[in-house]
Amino acid sequence: MMSKFMEWVDARFPATKMWEDHLSKYYAPKNFNFFYFFGSLALLVLVNQIVTGVWLTMSYNPSAEEAFASVEYIMRDVEYGWVLRYLHSTGASAFFVVVYLHMFRGLLYGSYQKPRELVWIFGMLIYLMLMAEAFMGYLLPWGQMSYWGAQVIISLFGAIPVIGADLTQWIRGDYLISGITLNRFFALHVVALPIVILGLVVLHILALHEVGSNNPDGVEIKKKKDANGIPLDGIPFHPYYTVKDIVGVVVFLFIFCFVVFFFPEMGGYFLEKPNFEVANPFKTPAHIAPVWYFTPFYAILRAIPDKLMGVIAMGGAIAVLFVLPWLDRSPVKSMRYKGWLSKIWLLVFCVSFVILGVLGVLSPTPGRTLLSQVCTFLYFAYFILMPFYTRMEKTKPVPERVTG
Ligand code: HEM
Repeated sequence: MMSKFMEWVDARFPATKMWEDHLSKYYAPKNFNFFYFFGSLALLVLVNQIVTGVWLTMSYNPSAEEAFASVEYIMRDVEYGWVLRYLHSTGASAFFVVVYLHMFRGLLYGSYQKPRELVWIFGMLIYLMLMAEAFMGYLLPWGQMSYWGAQVIISLFGAIPVIGADLTQWIRGDYLISGITLNRFFALHVVALPIVILGLVVLHILALHEVGSNNPDGVEIKKKKDANGIPLDGIPFHPYYTVKDIVGVVVFLFIFCFVVFFFPEMGGYFLEKPNFEVANPFKTPAHIAPVWYFTPFYAILRAIPDKLMGVIAMGGAIAVLFVLPWLDRSPVKSMRYKGWLSKIWLLVFCVSFVILGVLGVLSPTPGRTLLSQVCTFLYFAYFILMPFYTRMEKTKPVPERVTG
């Protein structure tokens, strides 16, 4: 009965072909480790954001008069509204935790290197869109930090010579952030950007499945195949990794639910304290800081005294990641076989990024500004010096087949 039905479908739509190409006959390296959980987890969080977002939209009201109160209504009166909202707000932070670990895996195993440059570029476009999505979502509760955070970021466009002032007005749709801004951010957050992100995720995975997954050894498994053309070090994604990924999902959901139910505000890092007060254009909060996932870039912005240069540095910090595949000149992919210089620079980069993240939360003092300048310098040095240290250093021989 079932096979007859599938025959009927397959004659009209490539269902079995897609299942085989992307799951049951997609051969993934057999040595995936901990860091390979985060791709499937990113998909899970994406689904969580879309589903909880749709249900929140059913009770949320995107107007300057009603937005804040409608969120309170969701929290107090809508059945299970509180859990929908906390799943969505915690989900936003979880998305960035997962995506940062997913990107770190790329840096660790050289997954951006030839032939996976487009996988990386699509990933970077997702990251950029994700930042826009989170930024616009944060205006929607119409709290004090929603308002003033948006005020700081939108005013950055004002630093652009000649068109700056007109551009900020065009983005806001008004002379100040108002209900009009809220309306357009709502439309972009709920409709436009999710479509773009979903489309990019499809392209990301199609590009990956075209070339095949990298692995912790950075060995191309397609180079060694058996008589049937199946990579010797490959195993079918389904059932092996579908089942393995369930382990990651269970552990992730355990931690995620713990945060949702016991620490949804995460001490003011996931939901900031001033956001429990309604937006007031006449009252600037004493200390404006973005949500934690933006703070490294915010610290780079503040490290540079000149506003325009700060904006350029902040944009450059993200832009440089796009060209990473062409900066790494190493003959090997994985950090396991790269030399000491690559290892030390990756460590320096990660430590600088975390320190910048912490500094971005704190209010500036002369000492902190100096430290953020040092870390900004090191952040960029990691990339700018990469073509040199990856070529200079002595690498270890890469095995023919994957290890372990
Ligand atoms: C919504 C966000 C994202 C989703 C749903 C997603 C999904 C996935 C999935 C399912 C995989 C295959 C499984 C795995 O290797 O872990 C993957 C691989 C990969 N992703 Fe993403 N991704 C996202 C964002 C990003 C970002 C922001 C980057 C980097 C800029 C990135 C770079 C990569 C790379 C380089 C690979 C290949 C890794 C390898 O084969 O070693 N992804 N992604």
